[in-house]
Amino acid sequence: MGVDSPDLIPFYTACLPPKTAFHNRCIRYAKRRLGWKQTSPQVVTKVTAAVASKHRDFPISVNIVLGNQCNLSCDHCFYHSRVRASYFDKPEEMSWPTVRRIIDELPLHRTFAKFGSYEEPLLYYPKFSELASAFIHSGVGVHLTTNGTLIRPDRIGLLQNLRTLYVSLDAASAGTYKEIRGGDYERVLKNTLDLASSFKGIQMGTSFIRQPRASHEEQAFIDFWLPKVDMVILYALLAYNESGYSIDQPFLAPPPYRVVCSSPWLETYVMPNGDVTLCCQTLVMTGRTNIPVMGNINNQSLERIWNGPSYERYRAALIDQDWDHANICRDCPIWSASYYTVEHKDGLKITRNPTTKVIEEATEA
Ligand SMILES: C[S@@+](CC[C@H](N)C(=O)[O-])C[C@H]1O[C@@H](n2cnc3c(N)ncnc32)[C@H](O)[C@@H]1O
Ligand code: SF4
Repeated sequence: MGVDSPDLIPFYTACLPPKTAFHNRCIRYAKRRLGWKQTSPQVVTKVTAAVASKHRDFPISVNIVLGNQCNLSCDHCFYHSRVRASYFDKPEEMSWPTVRRIIDELPLHRTFAKFGSYEEPLLYYPKFSELASAFIHSGVGVHLTTNGTLIRPDRIGLLQNLRTLYVSLDAASAGTYKEIRGGDYERVLKNTLDLASSFKGIQMGTSFIRQPRASHEEQAFIDFWLPKVDMVILYALLAYNESGYSIDQPFLAPPPYRVVCSSPWLETYVMPNGDVTLCCQTLVMTGRTNIPVMGNINNQSLERIWNGPSYERYRAALIDQDWDHANICRDCPIWSASYYTVEHKDGLKITRNPTTKVIEEATEA
């Protein structure tokens, strides 16, 4: 399909119900950042290769991967269970010079720093705390996804000031937790409740993967956590097999045909060795195939990499559906997660995309 085909931009047309918050945000983003033309309220047409070079000067969020180790080996985990790639057998950790380069650059931009990609970030607490404290001090929002096992009283002072924080639990009973995550449920429960009662940031949530051995506890999990945290997050199981992975029991049917994924225009990942890569798909494929590297933060600023030729070429390839170049994207199912709906029911706000369902109390508009 050529770059001038209007079919390449179903993003805002056939796939998205008009008037959803996401639709409106996409339209605003497309008009402002990408220069797309809106020819009618619901139709945005004609993307050209030039679009690929129009984007924000800096990513909206930067995912910082501090290392490649975890203290658990959850049954479902791509990175630390039996299906892990051999890359995870040899510990790797971000160096202090790389940490300092990030501390020097991120506060210059209005962005969001996110931790908790394929490692347990609190295993790297000295570096995590140095980065998070510097960001908080300079007004950069910080997000953490953690398994909660390493939350301790002396760490709560920092953790309670993060902007958003998710604790991955996946069970509502000690037995199921032990089966799936293999850790000490009572301790994680206490850690999470202690933090929830003192959390000062914008949103704290607990998450649960819908998987065969835990599904029977899903409602109990929601009922227990909803009064105690800002949001309960349900994830569909991303099920790994020889040919890649797929979304098990999506919460929402994916759009009818492939849309351009927005990740390379919005977010980026800095790996432990300083390599800058694209999205969660590149994380999942680490050690399984060659992942695309846009540059290394030890040699260049993140801003230069984000605006540099490798990123530009990749974005153009994605729009062009040039799967020889954007080959990591060819079989990725996550592009569909850009599409979501919001429902208000019984005083709750429920947001769904194919991979995630978020339940929170509805607030006054
Ligand atoms: C890989 S973990 C890394 C951060 C931290 N160790 C934790 O567990 O929160 C990030 C998130 O991915 C989720 N996750 C891991 N494997 C998954 C899978 N196969 N399907 C869906 N979510 C998964 C985890 O439950 C967690 O919420
Ligand atoms: S705690 Fe997180 S990173 Fe560790 S094994 Fe479980 S899901 Fe994977």
